[in-house]
Amino acid sequence: MLFSRRGFVYHAHMNLPVVIAPSILSADFADLGAGLAAIETSGAEWVHLDVMDGHFVPNITFGPQTVADLRRRTSLTLDVHLMIDNPREYVEQFVRAGADLVTFHLEAATHAHRLIQHIRELGAKPGIAIVPSTPSAALTELLAMVDLVLVMTVNPGFGGQSIIPRCLEKVRQLDRARRDANLGYRISVDGGINAQTSSQARDAGADVLVSGSAFFAAATPEYYVRDLRGVGIA
Ligand code: DX5
Ligand code: ZN
Repeated sequence: MLFSRRGFVYHAHMNLPVVIAPSILSADFADLGAGLAAIETSGAEWVHLDVMDGHFVPNITFGPQTVADLRRRTSLTLDVHLMIDNPREYVEQFVRAGADLVTFHLEAATHAHRLIQHIRELGAKPGIAIVPSTPSAALTELLAMVDLVLVMTVNPGFGGQSIIPRCLEKVRQLDRARRDANLGYRISVDGGINAQTSSQARDAGADVLVSGSAFFAAATPEYYVRDLRGVGIA
């Protein structure tokens, strides 16, 4: 259930405004400035930055220099999603590059508890991500420490895949856990989000919607962002 207050869309359970995070992964990498400009004019709040290393996932994207260059061009929140092995080795570079949120994968970090603290000490907001085969219960000991839980709704590595509906059950579980323990982490869904699937994700309790291929395929990004929020055209 959604309702609107002072121009924001609120999720009924948590009163957190829904945040839209277009993923630059689906932009033209020869013209990232244009991709960023499309995000800026769309009314989205965050820019989602998918960092891939060719080890944790079978694809390679970009590193801290690209994040720093984008940082100089925008004041939107930079939401860095590290799909890399050994995230401990790289988080400082991404924070120095200007990341507001740094999210790493539970599957890539033995000492996730320590790494979350480290990210916070460096001055960024820590997030933890899980791939489709990891149950939400694996996050139990970490939920009180993070600002963001990212639930991958496709297997990571590529844009343009279809959502795995079963992953939304984990969103429901994490939303329930959040309310039961009165915690404030956001729940992000990443992969296969579009105008159709976004309502299922919001109903499950997600309040950050990442969208790559559908965002950059949209004729009018501003309308598309409103569709994602479930508010239609003004
Ligand atoms: C997948 C990435 C996603 C991706 C989403 O590995 O983490 O952020 O860009 O893209 P779409 O919206 O095309 O599924
Ligand atoms: Zn991502």
